[in-house]
Amino acid sequence: MRLLVTGGLGFIGSNFIRHVLTEHPGVRVVNLDLRTYAGNPANLADLRGNPRYRWIKGDIADPFIVKRCMAGADAVVHFAAETHVDRSILDAGAFLRTNVVGTDVLLRAALKNGVERFVHVGTDEVYGSVPRGFSTESDRLLPNSPYAASKAAGDLLARSYFVTHGLPVIVTRASNNFGPYQFPEKALPLMITNWIDDKPYPLYGDGRQVRDWLYVLDHVRALDLILRRGRPGEVYNVAGGYSCANRELVERVRRLMEKPRDLVKRVPDRPGHDRRYALNFSKLKKLGYRPAHGFGAALARTVDWYRGHETWWRPLKKDGGYRAYYRRQYAARLGAAS
Ligand code: DAU
Repeated sequence: MRLLVTGGLGFIGSNFIRHVLTEHPGVRVVNLDLRTYAGNPANLADLRGNPRYRWIKGDIADPFIVKRCMAGADAVVHFAAETHVDRSILDAGAFLRTNVVGTDVLLRAALKNGVERFVHVGTDEVYGSVPRGFSTESDRLLPNSPYAASKAAGDLLARSYFVTHGLPVIVTRASNNFGPYQFPEKALPLMITNWIDDKPYPLYGDGRQVRDWLYVLDHVRALDLILRRGRPGEVYNVAGGYSCANRELVERVRRLMEKPRDLVKRVPDRPGHDRRYALNFSKLKKLGYRPAHGFGAALARTVDWYRGHETWWRPLKKDGGYRAYYRRQYAARLGAAS
């Protein structure tokens, strides 16, 4: 099978590529990735020289490069996206270009090329905040951040290509991922890397927001299963099955890393911050999915991974673009502590 993966230099995409190349000797991967700030060739340094893997640098919103990459592809797994909610609050422009226009360019090319499967990797944030109960795939979409709205647009575009053109599209909606190679702007890698340096972690608002935590290696297994056994036209929720409030998460990691309480710094809340996400993923369980990693063990492995990979994350945090973002996002909130 020849697979076109988009955004394969990112956190989830790179873990997925490593997974499929390890598990399926007959798979060849073309990775179309623009190498934005969150895309990092170091994530797949171990694949250098692998004849079954090729990275092509390019923008999914560019029809010419997409046409070239799509030629000969049997299936597409589409990860490429702007993903950070806080950045979408500062400026949503790049989110619309990649998550909406880029998705449309890919869908059109996939249709022209007659691909057998198109998996659109989406997010549970499209459901909006869920005060109680669990979101099922048929629930209405009520995205609250510009990021979530752009992902909902891509998700619905994908659906429209199935209904209108019969393109065999499958949409997934996953909860909060964590694990190796996650860019240190997201909550967990920011917390862990700040605490390795004894710097404070900024906890938004009252810290009572609830998230479901999904280990990335479970997520990529789920996506592989969906690619092979999922039904075109369907949506699948993907969750880890462990949920907690942010302040509990912070406490767990703080104890695990043996850090003092004053390294948790309450800061003003994220505007429009969703209080709770919760997914019903029984449809995916019927396909045969079970999370294989318990949350506690996966969290400990993740902390160990960041402790053992300082040469991976330190250059990212030293980069001028990251520092400018960090200052803009946190300096006023953290004051002298930052
Ligand atoms: O739910 C799936 C989504 O999970 C993905 O679609 C997004 O791409 C991904 O970024 C993530 O979104 P969140 O906004 O939930 O993740 P984030 O890591 O930014 O934040 C997790 C929680 O921690 C959230 O309630 C906000 C809070 N937080 C985050 C940061 C970065 C803090 O309290 N302080 C922080 O500095």
